Amino acid sequence: MLDKILDEKVQGTALKKEFTTNGNKKMYIESYGCQMNFSDSEIVASVLSREGFCTTKILEEANLVLINTCSIRDKAEQTVRNRLKYFQSVKKKYNKKMTVGVLGCMAERLKEKLLDQEKLVDIVVGPDAYRDLPKLVKEIEDGKKGINVFLSLEETYADINPIRLGGNGVTAFVSITRGCDNMCTFCVVPYTRGRERSRDPKSIIKECEELIKLGYKEVTLLGQNVDSYLWYGGGAKKNYKNITVDESKVWDFAKLLDEVAKINPILRIRFSTSNPQDMTDQVIDVISKHKNICNYIHLPVQSGSSKILKLMNRGYSRQEYLILIDKIKNKIPDCAISMDMISGFCNETEDDHLKTLSLMDIVKYDYGYMFKYSERPNTAAAKKLTDNILEKTKQRRLTEIIAKQREHSLMHMKKRIGNSYEVLIEGRSKKSSQFYYGRTTHNATVVFKKQEKKVGDYVNVKIQDCTSATLIGEII
Ligand code: 5AD
Ligand code: SF4
Repeated sequence: MLDKILDEKVQGTALKKEFTTNGNKKMYIESYGCQMNFSDSEIVASVLSREGFCTTKILEEANLVLINTCSIRDKAEQTVRNRLKYFQSVKKKYNKKMTVGVLGCMAERLKEKLLDQEKLVDIVVGPDAYRDLPKLVKEIEDGKKGINVFLSLEETYADINPIRLGGNGVTAFVSITRGCDNMCTFCVVPYTRGRERSRDPKSIIKECEELIKLGYKEVTLLGQNVDSYLWYGGGAKKNYKNITVDESKVWDFAKLLDEVAKINPILRIRFSTSNPQDMTDQVIDVISKHKNICNYIHLPVQSGSSKILKLMNRGYSRQEYLILIDKIKNKIPDCAISMDMISGFCNETEDDHLKTLSLMDIVKYDYGYMFKYSERPNTAAAKKLTDNILEKTKQRRLTEIIAKQREHSLMHMKKRIGNSYEVLIEGRSKKSSQFYYGRTTHNATVVFKKQEKKVGDYVNVKIQDCTSATLIGEII
């Protein structure tokens, strides 16, 4: 699927939906990077709406301009920097009183640097400090410095009702964990998002129930590592072993998924991201047991070479990963699987790269998100390994990986022709107002003639044709 083959592209999205409050202050927010950031922006909108902020899609008229940022690769940070420079030029030209704030991973990684050295922003707020935003906005109005990059062992924003900025009124993100303890050597996330902690399951279930009442039909449970979900009463996962807890009250991801699936069969459930080393047999059982849990698992592999996986500290070998894939395919034969892959990690030889290609031939992923290795400051790889693969070699390997994925994606799309699938209608197709688009359980996008149906309906669609990115069909 072309739209799922991301070759180092960094996309930012301004909010799609405006909301109003009684207040007269206007905020403009743009999000970059992972789904978690998009979900966090909805929490930020909620926190600020209590202070009388409404949202605007017009940058020039905003009192407060926020950018929720990603540090995962250098290119992502450069995109944000260019955007911040543009915001500064808008501020100068149209609205000298505009406050510009940076949120998310770049705020956490660069801290004061963005304020003092680069002078690109007025406020810097890390992922665990969004409750502090109203205070910081006020303080800079009083001429103080607006920064909070404190990382918490507790914060999950469980009690904050996100303001849905995504816009279709049918699908929503529900965050279930924050942070990551896995410490993959290439990854900056454990440093920018802090220690892993899970959200109270009661608040997750309540949020899903409320979404159903509002007409939503699909939730995606979000976390850096959802399979590691563990609720034992609150706090960092790393503290779990050191305290005495009533084991009968402990929830793992399998239990959470099971309970969310039971809320209402009308609600489709997706989840992301799964980590191969943390995915249990029970989770696979729960997926296979419930019709409303989608048959789609995003299972990043990063490399097909056990040597590279070890250097990455991924916690599994090629063989262990393939055993997990077999388990999934045995229990859920029609399960779509996607991956993340990195080309050109430190010490990656041609033989390691061929192992990646051969692993792809074995698994035949439905979709892939593929990237060139980008060294991130202060990670274990940056400290202990050498970024020793030439840029042009990284690029060539990435091109080969993408070409292979394209073949596999097309193959999966073609095999769906002639079959019928239940599709949740998510909106009008961008290409034609006569057509709707939606997704199958496998996360494949389908476009089809509208007929008498409406957004939010489930329909059965017979697939007649496809491109490598989209299925084309007709409601039956
Ligand atoms: N360089 C390239 N890709 C990276 N990812 C994470 N860190 C890096 C990095 N330093 C990729 C991984 C991860 C996805 C979210 O981003 O594939 O699964
Ligand atoms: Fe980063 Fe690894 Fe955690 Fe994913 S599991 S967020 S790649 S450290």
